Amino acid sequence: SCGKIYDYRVSYNQFTVLRKERREQQLRAYENQQKQIQDTEDFIERFRYKATKAVQVQSRIKQLEKIERMEVDEEDNTALKLKFLPASQSGSYPVICEDVEKIYGKHLVFRNVNFTINRGEKVAFVGKNGEGKSTLVKCIMSEIDFGGKLTLGHNVQIGYFAQNQAQMLDESYTVFDTIDRVATGDIRLKIRDILGAFMFGGEASDKKVKVLSGGERTRLAMIKLLLEPVNFLILDEPTNHLDMRSKDVLKDAVRAFSGTVIVVSHDREFLDGLASKVYEFGGGHVKEHLGGIYDFLQTKKIENLNELNAVSPVMEPENKKKLSNADISLSIKQTYEVQKENNKKIKKLEKQVGDCETKIEKLETEIRETEHRMATPKGALDMGLYEQHQQLKHQLEKTVEEWEQLSVELERSAS
Ligand SMILES: Nc1ncnc2c1ncn2[C@@H]1O[C@H](COP(=O)(O)OP(=O)(O)O)[C@@H](O)[C@H]1O
Ligand SMILES: [Mg+2]
Repeated sequence: SCGKIYDYRVSYNQFTVLRKERREQQLRAYENQQKQIQDTEDFIERFRYKATKAVQVQSRIKQLEKIERMEVDEEDNTALKLKFLPASQSGSYPVICEDVEKIYGKHLVFRNVNFTINRGEKVAFVGKNGEGKSTLVKCIMSEIDFGGKLTLGHNVQIGYFAQNQAQMLDESYTVFDTIDRVATGDIRLKIRDILGAFMFGGEASDKKVKVLSGGERTRLAMIKLLLEPVNFLILDEPTNHLDMRSKDVLKDAVRAFSGTVIVVSHDREFLDGLASKVYEFGGGHVKEHLGGIYDFLQTKKIENLNELNAVSPVMEPENKKKLSNADISLSIKQTYEVQKENNKKIKKLEKQVGDCETKIEKLETEIRETEHRMATPKGALDMGLYEQHQQLKHQLEKTVEEWEQLSVELERSAS
């Protein structure tokens, strides 16, 4: 019956859990590191008493001390990939603004705002603080009145993360209760799993909201947002309190979302590869820029969005930095090329150092064997053995020398 359908309107599929994949990646990296540590320790052990290698042994010991030891997530406490599963499609034009304007008392926030956002588009609202990004979002949400005409498309279902969303949580509830109160349908059986997915595993879910950090509150508010099927996400500064890892998780989820998205953000890394259109707020205007966030930064001749705070769009021609587009794209390209070259060089050096070490080991074994044979009555008379021993020693010396040079070079390139 219809009633039943409504009971189950929230699907657990909203959370695609890829815990296993992430753990396996971590395990592989962890094992690699363990092998590297083992190799280094072996090396130190092997050369510890050799005066000629004192410097290299010392440098390896230092290297060991510097290694940041990886950890593998607890099985049940892992950050997961999450997914917004869209509700049924909205109409083709989720938002159409026609001469939208907003005035607070005598203060004009913006006017003549005209744009259309197409279904499935992901756009960024950028601009310095106080230029009206949140205000336009509130207009779209019908939270405040405004001038002009703003049309929402057919069947638009909005998931809204307000700029102060994290502060709007009820402080007297626990993490678990906060979600328990809003979750309906079969997802209720999975609340603990979902909380675990957002790093509220185990006892963390019994914490009161009032003791949570900004990042934890943001994550919790994000979970609430995920509990509703939507086809239009409006995220007003969602990354403000998030750590790198949670930011990545969120970015992946927003990227994978097939609905329409407006993100207000100052974070160019977060917006990169996510937004395909940028709306610039400033001086009472909203200007549309086609292309991604780096195209926008290039057009504005700035390197990051915080610089917008220093440059108002109306004053742009006088105030802008003196870097040309070509300069910026060249310098980005150069940095990238240099990095790439250096990485290549490091890889090559690492291999050469490794090869040298294998060779040293082999030569040492051969020398030892030769010495054993020379110590037998028959071997003692064998001049060929003696010559071979000298040659091996000479080779060893050369290889150690080569190894020393390569190690120094590697250290220099890698630092
Ligand atoms: N309720 C309000 N009453 C009066 N002025 C407001 C109100 N809300 C916001 N403003 C003003 O409107 C401007 C735009 O604010 P806002 O949309 O929050 O900017 P942004 O999100 O781009 O940082 C600011 O100058 C702000 O002081
Ligand atoms: Mg704002």
